[in-house]
Amino acid sequence: MSNVPALHAVPDGIVNLADHELHARQRLDDNAWAYFSGGAADEHSLAANRLAWDALALWPRVLRPLAGGHTRVRLLGQELACPLLVAPMALQRMAHADGELATTYAAAALGSGMVLSTQASLPLETVARAAQSTPGRGPLWFQLYLQHDRGFTRHLLDRAEAAGYEALVLTVDAPTSGVRDRERRANFRLPAGISAVNLRGLEPPAAMQLAPGQSALFDGLLQQAPTWEDIAWLQQQTRLPIVLKGVLHPADAIQAAQLGVAGLIVSNHGGRTLDTAPATAIALGHVSRALRAAGLDLPLLADGGIRRGTDVLKAIALGATAVLVGRPVLWGLANAGAAGVAHVLRLLRDELEIAMALTGCATLDQATPALLDPGQA
Ligand code: FNR
Repeated sequence: MSNVPALHAVPDGIVNLADHELHARQRLDDNAWAYFSGGAADEHSLAANRLAWDALALWPRVLRPLAGGHTRVRLLGQELACPLLVAPMALQRMAHADGELATTYAAAALGSGMVLSTQASLPLETVARAAQSTPGRGPLWFQLYLQHDRGFTRHLLDRAEAAGYEALVLTVDAPTSGVRDRERRANFRLPAGISAVNLRGLEPPAAMQLAPGQSALFDGLLQQAPTWEDIAWLQQQTRLPIVLKGVLHPADAIQAAQLGVAGLIVSNHGGRTLDTAPATAIALGHVSRALRAAGLDLPLLADGGIRRGTDVLKAIALGATAVLVGRPVLWGLANAGAAGVAHVLRLLRDELEIAMALTGCATLDQATPALLDPGQA
């Protein structure tokens, strides 16, 4: 594989993200499909994410001046051409040989942000160089899962800082995997030659001798699960801003803000961890109102089920500064490599511009809660 992604044409007839999904289903085998598209257990949260965005009505305002409008936002001191970031997603070479490299080039070319997963299938340094060589790129962040070996976690942090990542996204909603029935039914296996390469050298946790009646989860795996105290530890280890990903409960949002994190990503992990956790659109409203009531002001982001420009606008009206896009990026990647990812991001941006124009918002700061509830006007 070269370090420049292959150029493929986006197949004809794909005009939206749902078309990308249908097409990707044809291209990916059952193994990859189960991993990429599945949610936890009965997939209620996966479905709820979509339903909740759809259930919000936009109340358009007419005859407002629109000339000179734009989709630019500022996030952690950086400008984004459009309030979109690629969500951290593991093992992208399962979708396309160019994997995270293609995703990063596409995000950077469109001025969108890129968040690289701890479980990426390419070295974090290679991916960083791809972003840095692209003019007009958006933010480049590294998603961190705290590892049971804190020395290894430190080493990963050092590498991310040295490679030029600009923020750490600490994912806190997955101390263990969710109940992933779809993957188990498909007997999911990592394809040969694809792995979480940045975790090479990490020794598995020492095997625990469990006494009869002890839980392999609570008395084993979760012995080293991160807690709030680890936030302070992480803040001491790094000069990078820390964004917490996977916060849903307003009380957690307040605690995190009081600890001085730089931002929050309201997320249920795309419905892949706790099934029946609330949809993002519902949680985002609660979190945003609770922070405002507590006088706490920090950037909110959101992900889960964002498939239309109108979804992006609704998230911003609910208090988000930007959104992350997950699975659709993988569909674009599977369909046409970097060009497919760029197409997905471009479609969302075009749809967002249209949604703004049709609701009377020339800029995104005009997208306020009144866009969703005329009683708040
Ligand atoms: C994820 N997600 C995820 N999150 C994270 O913090 N670290 C990770 O390594 C992964 N890996 C991952 C793999 C795959 C295949 C998917 C689909 C998702 C969750 C991801 O960042 C994001 O929260 C959701 O994907 C957003 O929902 P949508 O846009 O996929 O509906």
